[in-house]
Amino acid sequence: MQRPIKKAIFPVAGLGTRFLPATKAMPKEMLTVVDRPLIQIAVDEAREAGIEHFIFVTGRNKSVIEDHFDKQYELESTLRKRGKSVELEILEQDLPAAGQTSFTRQQEPLGLGHAIWCARNIVGDEPFAVLLPDMVMHAKPGCLGQMIATYNERGGGNVIAVEKVGLDQVHRYGVVGAKDWRGNGFTIDRMVEKPRAEDAPSNLIISGRYILQPEVFDEIQAQTPGAGGEIQITDAMIRLMARQPFHGLAYEGTTYDCGDKLGFLAANVAYGLERDDLGPEFRTVLQKIISEHGGRVTWKGE
Ligand code: UTP
Repeated sequence: MQRPIKKAIFPVAGLGTRFLPATKAMPKEMLTVVDRPLIQIAVDEAREAGIEHFIFVTGRNKSVIEDHFDKQYELESTLRKRGKSVELEILEQDLPAAGQTSFTRQQEPLGLGHAIWCARNIVGDEPFAVLLPDMVMHAKPGCLGQMIATYNERGGGNVIAVEKVGLDQVHRYGVVGAKDWRGNGFTIDRMVEKPRAEDAPSNLIISGRYILQPEVFDEIQAQTPGAGGEIQITDAMIRLMARQPFHGLAYEGTTYDCGDKLGFLAANVAYGLERDDLGPEFRTVLQKIISEHGGRVTWKGE
């Protein structure tokens, strides 16, 4: 019987250089899709999948994330005085229960693998999930929920969510080889970090959600820095593949890479259009901008 997935790591210690200057003093993970911070969207997905312990690997400038998952008494009492019950309810719903969060620091941004390893003592000896908050997975049920279903169906092991991209894109990502497809799930028989198109085993990229067995921590520990001088999680997984099964899931949904400006803008448009309170008006505004300016906004005084 496979062990249940109750803990999730959120690596949030990256520098977010692609989003400077927005990320100079503010963590990338607090950027919002409409009005919800990326980190809150990822935590919502994990809660919906049954996660009970949320582990944040933070770095310098990231204490605002800790504050975000804490009570704000002054704010709450002001909202109460002003009769803002809807806003109060949202704040309450978004908050994990007392004792469900842990924060640890990655003292230097040495790569995603290293960030995950920093959480090893909090995770202990049990399988766990990893969610990269800047990858927003728009899916129902959520991507991690779909992965846990695959994990249960396949009797445990490691599970990675993948997404199809054009072959001209594969050099930017970790890429997997797939065999024994069943529904959207398959067995991973190869994994390559940032391959050239001609060397790629497929066009299925690793897209920001993982279920991993605790043995991966030993593999990370044994590692010397790989591509870009960073400790990559893909290198550790490649070694773990020699002794444990890895399953892939082409999850049903859309990925928005919100660490990238174009992905971030696309996510805001998609989520904005979907909102009951904003969608219809937002659609009209967007159509107007595109038809009047061909997408170009003319500033006053230009
Ligand atoms: P990215 O590859 O997007 O790196 O990290 P980054 O530093 O955040 O952003 P850019 O590329 O400079 O713009 C993917 C995820 O891994 C975390 C990031 O916070 C992000 O959630 N990460 C990355 C760490 O926690 N530590 C690291 O050393 C690197």
